[in-house]
Amino acid sequence: MKIIVLMGSPNRNGSTGILVENFKRGSEEAGHSVEVIDVCHANIHPCIGCVKCGYEGPCVQKDDVEMIRKKLLASDMVVFATPLYYYGMTAQLKTVVDRFCAYNSSLNSRHLKSALLTVAWNSDDWTFDALEAHYKTLVRYINFKDCGMVLGYGCGTPGMTKRSRYPQEAWQLGKDL
Ligand SMILES: Cc1cc2nc3c(=O)[nH]c(=O)nc-3n(C[C@H](O)[C@H](O)[C@H](O)COP(=O)(O)O)c2cc1C
Repeated sequence: MKIIVLMGSPNRNGSTGILVENFKRGSEEAGHSVEVIDVCHANIHPCIGCVKCGYEGPCVQKDDVEMIRKKLLASDMVVFATPLYYYGMTAQLKTVVDRFCAYNSSLNSRHLKSALLTVAWNSDDWTFDALEAHYKTLVRYINFKDCGMVLGYGCGTPGMTKRSRYPQEAWQLGKDL
């Protein structure tokens, strides 16, 4: 499979990155190809809601979303990778998701596999409730096929994350694809 990871942490060497690296290694060991797109350092602007695209058509904004669109539509799986920011995904990743607007139908008809990799400082059992609900709703709406989630409770720093079981879980998720 061709797998695209939408890396939504602004920290290149942070906790989200640790999960992404491990997922990538596991997936590659299982014979898949993985490309990580650093959406936080790309040139991506928020959807302005003009709907000139008609929910499927060229977007008036010319930026790196065109590159992401091409790669996603040529892939078999999309992975959303994000630290928890105020109980949701980062604004940078959400910006990419909102821009799905201009290729909504194409994306829908691809029936991509998907996964969620995420980390948070907190470890309360409700830490990921909102993000999990959002991800599952996207999966349902865009006709993705969920392959799993790694919810990194208590992963507030790279040190905490390295000592946790979540890097191994991310590797396993990739390996089992
Ligand atoms: C703006 C911001 C908002 C955050 N919001 C939450 C939160 O709602 N719940 C939580 O448990 N951790 C929260 N955190 C902590 C991060 O999710 C956590 O430190 C994570 O490991 C950062 O991942 P990174 O190293 O990939 O940046 C927040 C951090 C920042 C910078």
